[in-house]
Amino acid sequence: MLGTTEVGIESIGVAVGSGSVKLEALAAARNVPPSKYVDGLGTHTMSVAMPSEDTVTLAAQAATRALGNAGVDVGTVGLLAVGTETAVDHSKPVASFVQGLLGVPSRCRVFETKHACYGGTAAMLLALDWVRSGSARGKKALVVCSDIARYGIGTPGEPTQGAGAVALLISDRPSILRIDPATAGVFAKDVSDFWRPLYSKDAFVDGHYSVQCYLDALGGAYLHHRELVGANDAPARFSDRYAALAYHVPYGKMARKAHRHVRSLDGDDAGDDSFDRLVGPSLALPAAVGNVYTGSLYLALTSLLLESKVDLAGKPVGLFSYGSGSCAEFFTGTVGSEAQDRVRRLAIPELLASREDLSIAAYEDVMRARETLDESSGEGRVLHSHHPFRFTGVRDHKRVYEL
Ligand code: CAA
Repeated sequence: MLGTTEVGIESIGVAVGSGSVKLEALAAARNVPPSKYVDGLGTHTMSVAMPSEDTVTLAAQAATRALGNAGVDVGTVGLLAVGTETAVDHSKPVASFVQGLLGVPSRCRVFETKHACYGGTAAMLLALDWVRSGSARGKKALVVCSDIARYGIGTPGEPTQGAGAVALLISDRPSILRIDPATAGVFAKDVSDFWRPLYSKDAFVDGHYSVQCYLDALGGAYLHHRELVGANDAPARFSDRYAALAYHVPYGKMARKAHRHVRSLDGDDAGDDSFDRLVGPSLALPAAVGNVYTGSLYLALTSLLLESKVDLAGKPVGLFSYGSGSCAEFFTGTVGSEAQDRVRRLAIPELLASREDLSIAAYEDVMRARETLDESSGEGRVLHSHHPFRFTGVRDHKRVYEL
């Protein structure tokens, strides 16, 4: 087992908040032209977590789907990590609740990781090394990226909210994506572009500055990656070597700006020409779900595998993860032969269609209810969620979940 070189994503599972808001309706309520949200930002619908859903229930649901999709027993999991920036406790990790709900055995490393939207990628890259080094002793890692993006009613960030989780089963059988950790380019810089103080349920963001920070970090990580693959004097349009690219997607337009930046670093100032071909398929699910923070890049990857009209098996793809604050990584992988079939079997279009389309008044009620959700016993609360895992309230200062 020592020195395993083939490592990556064996299977994926996706969960989304079971409510949704159409951005056209939100725009009308905020007196904004709908085209600003739909075309200007590139998102048409955002998922909303209902009161019986939180980071834990979304993570448990996504993890169940990832295990089910691969036909893997929970007993094979030897590392369970949840990357999140919407933690439910300062001490107890989301991963421990997930362990309990799924029945993951005790001989398992269980922990949470945080670095804004990069937190899940950090856990995944550590998990890859854990498998590659032989420390896994034949076990698999379950890495779940789970978040509820929340900026508050009437803020510029409001149309870029979302709620969801993406679980990644990491092993030496990378049926979805074999990842090449050795050429992952990294970039980190202490900036205050987006943050959420301990006392606040809503994130604070310096919106336009955060866009610039994202692009700076992308440039740094991408150039590092090019250097690592020995392409300092990169041929023009270096990124054409990839069959597709998936970027972190806070909103679709950001991925367009990201791609234009990569192409300009490739010496191609007509970056938009290759956008539909290389990036387009990765944006369908993010446009229908919104920003899911840690899971965003992996939702984009799922979208790529679901929406691409091309057979991607054996083809290389580039991925970019950005976490405000900041840390970013540009890494690459090769699509597995079963990847597109497996993702189709997840029935994600049906999952999205099953969401409850909320009126703006109902969505605002949910937003206000979340203010006190983490302190209330939940008595009398209507359990809207169609998920099998439910957060029922806080009793004796303990969060209570039911199946
Ligand atoms: N029709 C079509 N397009 C329109 C339009 C209309 N009627 N009106 C405006 N637009 C376009 C604008 O031209 C603009 O496009 P460009 O960027 O290409 O110029 C786009 O719509 C957005 O318009 P504004 O910039 O005026 O919008 P805003 O200032 O109200 O808010 C935002 C935009 C700053 C991104 C805000 O949504 C925000 O703060 N979002 C949260 C922060 C964020 O997502 N940052 C991304 C980088 S950080 C990151 O990635 C980490 C993370 O996940 C948070």
